Order: sequence, then structure tokens, then C-alpha cells
Amino acid sequence: MTEPKPNEIVFKKRLSENTVRIEVVAPLIAKKAQPGQFVIIRVHSRGERIPLTIADSNKETGTITLIFQEVGKSTFALGLLEQGGFLHDVVGPLGHPTPIEKYGNAIIVAGGLGTAEMYPIARALREAGNHVITIVGARRKDLLVMVEEMESVSDEIIITTDDGSLGRKGVVTVPLKELVEDGRADFVITCGPTIMMKFVAEATREAGVPTFASLNPIMVDGTGMCGACRVSVGGKTRFACVDGPDFNAHEVDFEELMMRQKAFCDFERKSLDLWLEEHPERAHSGG
Ligand SMILES: Cc1cc2nc3c(=O)[nH]c(=O)nc-3n(C[C@H](O)[C@H](O)[C@H](O)COP(=O)(O)OP(=O)(O)OC[C@H]3O[C@@H](n4cnc5c(N)ncnc54)[C@H](O)[C@@H]3O)c2cc1C
Ligand code: FES
Repeated sequence: MTEPKPNEIVFKKRLSENTVRIEVVAPLIAKKAQPGQFVIIRVHSRGERIPLTIADSNKETGTITLIFQEVGKSTFALGLLEQGGFLHDVVGPLGHPTPIEKYGNAIIVAGGLGTAEMYPIARALREAGNHVITIVGARRKDLLVMVEEMESVSDEIIITTDDGSLGRKGVVTVPLKELVEDGRADFVITCGPTIMMKFVAEATREAGVPTFASLNPIMVDGTGMCGACRVSVGGKTRFACVDGPDFNAHEVDFEELMMRQKAFCDFERKSLDLWLEEHPERAHSGG
């Protein structure tokens, strides 16, 4: 049997129509990765740089787990790679690890794919002796990912769907507000759509519960050189790749972040349309 080589995809599973889990050989990254950190990968030598959270890592097998959603040209191209295929390069671990301490009741609020990003954080918070309460939300039942994994690292789990197809009908901030009102929130960390993180920050602001948001601005180099990932936090400019990606949610300018995330929308749409013309077999899921 041949030994797996660096950057090789040794496992691939499609979790839903547009969500894929891969395990990639990256022993040096697996050895150092801590909860909250990410990698930047390229599919080929002229490919875009794609930041992806390290959803899990295994020092023994030297592999890291990445879970991604196909949203544009580069992530669709990544989704075409199969087990036995190779990423062109993988850089990391990048960013600061999430501050893990014993807070008491630690609440994770995860929306959509943010769940994958929160999994290693939930596990680490539990290992540090916290009572972990996870709130996972998605628009529909079939868009929920890693619920079983989250259950295994949480003391309590609350599922919400916008359409009521699983768990409580409604948005994640409703059970969050209840926990805050009951005095059961000592620490909150959130990851998901930016608009959701903004409302999570509002839900905990008045009670002054320490709340962190794991931000996903557009990134290019990932090393603090290009400025693409700049965000305003507490009135100061910070670079999410080297100063984050986690920031005090009560200080983040979410409106500015949302505006910057949409900056290249038209180009991204055109680029995806051209790619789908060349790959008609994927057109049904990208349209
Ligand atoms: C720290 C960090 C961790 C992330 N972790 C994950 C993850 O674990 N799983 C996952 O599915 N996604 C994750 N993302 C988002 C992911 O990087 C983007 O979805 C991806 O780069 C989109 O590229 P595309 O060419 O397929 O899409 P495009 O069509 O280029 O863009 C689609 C949307 O993706 C966002 N985006 C585009 N380019 C970038 C970029 N270079 N950096 C960041 N966002 C971009 C924009 O909001 C854009 O509107 C993370 C982003 C950051 C910054
Ligand atoms: S991605 Fe270039 S400075 Fe952060």
C-alpha cells in the first residue's frame, strides 16, 4: 500500500448537495492546529486562495478536516476533486486560536456552515470544564451540518430552523435571548452568516455577556500584508487574518463588513456562470 502524500485528499464525503467534507494530508498543520484557526488552500497553481477553517485535525494520521460549501467558482472547482486527488497548496495554521478558558456556561451559536467552524471550539470549551450549550440554526433541515458531532461535544443542544422542518421554528437568537434572560450565559461565541452574528451581538449586548464572533471577510494573502480582510473593531482597523478571526462582537462594525463582503458580487457571479458553462454537469446546483 502506498503512503498518502502531503496535500492528498484521503477522504471525501458530500454532506448535502453543496456541502463537502474532505480530509487532507497536512502533518505539520495537524500537529500545530488549534481551535479557531484556518488554512488557505489553492486547487491549482493559478487558482484563487480559499480560506477554510480547520474543522478538525488528527496528529496521529497527520490529517486536517475541511468542510466547505460550494458558493462560487473556486469552491465548485474544489468540490470536483476526489479522494486520491491533491490540493495544489495548503498554508496554515493561520489566525489566532480562540481563547479557551473556564467561563461557566459557554454558549455556541452556529448558523449553517458556521457549525463546522464551531465544532473544535465546542470540544475545547467542554474539555476546559465549561457547560457547553450549542444553538445550531439553518434555513431548512437539509442545510444543517455536523449536528451529531456537535451533540457529542455539547451538554445541551438546541436546533432551530427557519421553516420549522427540525427543532424549534425560528432563528437562533430566540433561544439565545432566553438563556441570557435566565442568567445562563457566561460566554458566547458565534459563527455563521454575518447578519446572524450581528443579531447575536445585539442579543447579549445589554446584559454585557462577553461575546465573540468568528468573522469571514474576504481574504487574499492571510498574512496581514494585503489589507483585504480589514474590519473595524472598536473604531480601529484590524486585519482578521492576523488579529482574528475572532473579535469582540459588541465592537465589530457588521454593516461595514457586510458591505465589503459584497464588493465583488458581480464579478463572482460572472466568473461562476462562465465556469458552469464549462461544467454543465454542476449547473443544476450552482444556478
Ligand atoms: C477565516 C475564514 C474561514 C472560512 N472558513 C470557511 C469554511 O470552513 N467553510 C466554507 O465553506 N467557507 C469558509 N470561508 C468562506 C470561503 O473562504 C469562501 O466561501 C470562498 O473563498 C468563496 O470562494 P469562491 O470562489 O467559491 O466564491 P466567490 O464566487 O469568489 O465568492 C462567493 C462569496 O464568498 C466570499 N468570498 C469570496 N472570496 C473570498 C475570499 N478570498 N476570502 C473569504 N471570503 C471570500 C464572498 O463573501 C463572496 O461573496 C471562510 C472564510 C474565512 C475568511
Ligand atoms: S488577508 Fe491580506 S491582510 Fe488579511
